[in-house]
Amino acid sequence: FQKTCLDYFNRRHQSNMASIEASKRAAATEAVKNHYPLNAKWVGIGSGTTIVYVVEAIKNLGTDTSLTRFVPTGYQSKQLITKAGLTPVEFDAIPEGVVLDIAFDGADEVDDDLNCIKGGGACLFQEKIVALQAKEFICVADSRKLQNRLLTNWAYIPIEVAPIAAHRVVRKLKEMGSKNPAIRLNTVAKEGPLKTDQGFFIVDAPFPPLLTPSDVQAGKDGSGKAGVWEVSTLANKIKAIPGVLEVGIFHGITGPQAQEAGAVGGQKPF
Ligand code: 5RP
Repeated sequence: FQKTCLDYFNRRHQSNMASIEASKRAAATEAVKNHYPLNAKWVGIGSGTTIVYVVEAIKNLGTDTSLTRFVPTGYQSKQLITKAGLTPVEFDAIPEGVVLDIAFDGADEVDDDLNCIKGGGACLFQEKIVALQAKEFICVADSRKLQNRLLTNWAYIPIEVAPIAAHRVVRKLKEMGSKNPAIRLNTVAKEGPLKTDQGFFIVDAPFPPLLTPSDVQAGKDGSGKAGVWEVSTLANKIKAIPGVLEVGIFHGITGPQAQEAGAVGGQKPF
């Protein structure tokens, strides 16, 4: 597995929306130009606003995509693929034994060891299974999202939970040191909790900035005892809470540790 996280940034253009969009487009264009395999048969397509530019850049390559199958990570992603005239194939329709050639996605924050926070758009579960199923995961992030440690600028970890267990998960997260974890509300319908494509809830859990694996190697304590957690320790701990479907920490998916492990955050494609 070669997992790569990209940051193509332009600090001069951070001050307004138009330039943020320009940065996203520049990042997406570079990512596709440098990584899209021209003979790709299976391509994962993530969710969010940056991924729109990834699809645009794939179209702009002008290559024959008639035999390429694009695997969405949710409703928005599938709409995007279809509107671009590409062929979507849902995750559960990927034939047994097929590994995606590549998967592209955005991120909410990326740390120095290329771990990511994802789930700002509530699609983290499908995003993770698609990323895990790919030979190469390309995370396209503009410079606003690159921080030394996760939860520096981005405030919380999105966690997808079974509705029936949501309040218990919230209590458990508080015990683990999260300040005011909350079930995400549906701000569009202005009614009740947001429901994911799985019909689950999202709990957004703020924590202090997370230590990187490199911090721990350098001797820092990320066990959570003093309220400070290392990325993968916290991700595994949250994932183990009954009722949690998936956690929006993508650890070991990008960067050298993934390449060395030959797998993704200790997990393999299935
Ligand atoms: C959705 C995600 C997105 O990839 C993440 O929120 C980044 O989105 P954007 O490209 O709009 O900033 O994880 O669940």
